[in-house]
Amino acid sequence: MKFFLSAPHMSENELKYIQEVFKSNYIAPLGEFVNRFEQSIKDYTKSDYALALNSATAALHLALRVAGVKENDLVLASSFTFIASVAPIYYLKAKPIFIDCDETFNLDITLLKQAIYESEKKPKALILTHLYGNASKMDEILEICKENNIILIEDAAEALGSFYKGKALGTFGEFGVYSFNGNKIITTSGGGMLVGKDKQKIEKARFYSTQAREDCLHYEHLDYGYNYRLSNVLGAIGVAQMEVLEQRVLKKREIYKWYKEFLGDSFSFLDELENSRSNRWLSTALIDFKLNELFKEKKSICITQKDLPLHPKISKLIQDLKKEQIETRPLWKAMHAQAVFKGEKAYVNGNSELFFYKGICLPSSTTMSKDDVKEISYLILKSIRG
Ligand SMILES: Cc1ncc(COP(=O)(O)O)c(C=O)c1O
Repeated sequence: MKFFLSAPHMSENELKYIQEVFKSNYIAPLGEFVNRFEQSIKDYTKSDYALALNSATAALHLALRVAGVKENDLVLASSFTFIASVAPIYYLKAKPIFIDCDETFNLDITLLKQAIYESEKKPKALILTHLYGNASKMDEILEICKENNIILIEDAAEALGSFYKGKALGTFGEFGVYSFNGNKIITTSGGGMLVGKDKQKIEKARFYSTQAREDCLHYEHLDYGYNYRLSNVLGAIGVAQMEVLEQRVLKKREIYKWYKEFLGDSFSFLDELENSRSNRWLSTALIDFKLNELFKEKKSICITQKDLPLHPKISKLIQDLKKEQIETRPLWKAMHAQAVFKGEKAYVNGNSELFFYKGICLPSSTTMSKDDVKEISYLILKSIRG
């Protein structure tokens, strides 16, 4: 591929820190760099406690477990997201209730209220995804969770470097998670972080992440856990990547602006929520779309559970760009429309189907220049006009 959606972007210090790890021979399992990585996330996000793990999926699993989610408990969740946000609900044999999105791509407040109101028993937790790095309506969501005693878990896997009213996404709820997989804004090649407000709960998650070993000389287990911790080598990459996070955010935001400049006449670009800063992890665009047409159009497109259609121009565009070695992708296909979750309760309004139909994720690697974005935009316009 000539242009990936979001390629890893190393700075200069990753190799230097990895060499330090090798010199110390602490390549595994834990070590100084894992601690430093946790500290750097705490410093940047102002979160109280942090636990470095081998994926954000693991972080979500542990968050649900230490939140006390058990078999048959109800867990509310953003539907317009990647499956990793919600698969851990199934790991614990709990039941998801999917909530569609509003015009921001994120959780629809009216549907959230309706779901809680109509629920036969009190949902225990809410997994809230900040999609593509864009902030959700935090004031309203926090209030609803507080009123209904629902534990908020923020899936900020895509949103490290995003803020709402000056506060880092991922730090509003009782728990937040970040991902460092290969395509995220910073990467350790694979990795995740659980942050939280309650020391005991994060320490419990730490305990579960290393096979629930009791504190004694031999291996004693009163409970079972997982092998979820991050290695010191990857911690070293993380520390170096955190040093350039802010630069990466600024570049991603520039890329978004450039696409808007070149493609703004043919595509719609969603604005940031007021008082927020998105890290613009992936630049996304919607074809033939005006926000005020949303409600008119979605009536004809709303299809749930079945195969969802893509706009013919979008499927052609993805194929045309592939031939030019340019990676693009449709937006996430909502969880309530996935066969694996057939039969689960969902509160839908047609928005995620409409966004799926009209949307595209554009190459957003921070290694790209303005000329690269110009070249890609030229090919996009050629494809949709041809
Ligand atoms: C919204 C969202 N949640 C969770 C994840 C899972 O992250 P990881 O790959 O680190 O497990 C990802 C990305 O992969 C994601 O985009």
